[in-house]
Amino acid sequence: MHSGFSEERNGEQCERSICVNNPNLESMKEDILYHLNLDTASHDFPKEFGDVKFVCVGGSPWRMKSFTEYIAKELGLEDPKGEYPNICEGTDRYAMYKVGPILSVSHGIGIPSISIMLHELIKLLYHARCTDVTIVRIGTSGGIGLQPGTVVVTKQPVDAMFLPRFEQVVLGKTVVRSTELDVELAEELLQCGKELAEFETVIGNTMCTLDFYEGQARLDGAFCSYTEEEKQNYLSEAYAAGVRNIEMESSVFAAMCKLSNIRAAVVCVTLLDRQKGDQLSSSHEVMQSYQQRPQILTGLYIKKSLKPS
Ligand code: URA
Repeated sequence: MHSGFSEERNGEQCERSICVNNPNLESMKEDILYHLNLDTASHDFPKEFGDVKFVCVGGSPWRMKSFTEYIAKELGLEDPKGEYPNICEGTDRYAMYKVGPILSVSHGIGIPSISIMLHELIKLLYHARCTDVTIVRIGTSGGIGLQPGTVVVTKQPVDAMFLPRFEQVVLGKTVVRSTELDVELAEELLQCGKELAEFETVIGNTMCTLDFYEGQARLDGAFCSYTEEEKQNYLSEAYAAGVRNIEMESSVFAAMCKLSNIRAAVVCVTLLDRQKGDQLSSSHEVMQSYQQRPQILTGLYIKKSLKPS
């Protein structure tokens, strides 16, 4: 393994570096990041990833490739041949792209999918000895009381009971983890949105659910055991609790980034107003243009952060 779990790094305060909290890693000769199709024996992680300062994650592989192309252009780091190889080639679980200090990784849908990817991504960054890493989830969501196309910078992810917690069952016992995100980073991203003035950007709590249909009070799933009125009451309660959008990954994302000492933010566009409907009925073109908004906002933030002061 090119970079082990050194005691020194385990013991240090992890102020700028990535924290892992697993003594078993120390004794492993090799670490296989199975779902990313990468391993420490055949890759030199510090050489390949040591310069990473920004990681953007999002649901779809296509979106993360398009983000790489976009940010490369914005930063003048374009590949002359326009080629951005998928670093995770050989697996269709996740896709990963890198341009300069920016890594772009897909995570699929829902908490289990992003959680597996994050375990392996955090170990990758740790083995690569990365420091001062910022990670942003750029995604899509359903809005509450917002014009479709509004971008929501998450203040804090909450669960379906509007509580700021992520519950993980470990050895049959429920472990509750904090979903705190970096307040300063959220504020900076909000400012980037205001500066762009191309679309509405707001800050609010994000409700993270375990399901797209019943879990998000939709009336159009295969099953529905509640009325339209009950749905509306629930969404109103969520709004009163500060929730402005709903998606399916932010709570575990925030919890895992906090545990590993990575500055993290969530920036999601709303595809519809859930108080007005459930089906995603906008045209393909409209959806595509909405999905670019978190990329544009995060792109501006990265550009400003990398500008020599
Ligand atoms: N993603 C979600 O989880 N919900 C929506 O309504 C839209 C996108």
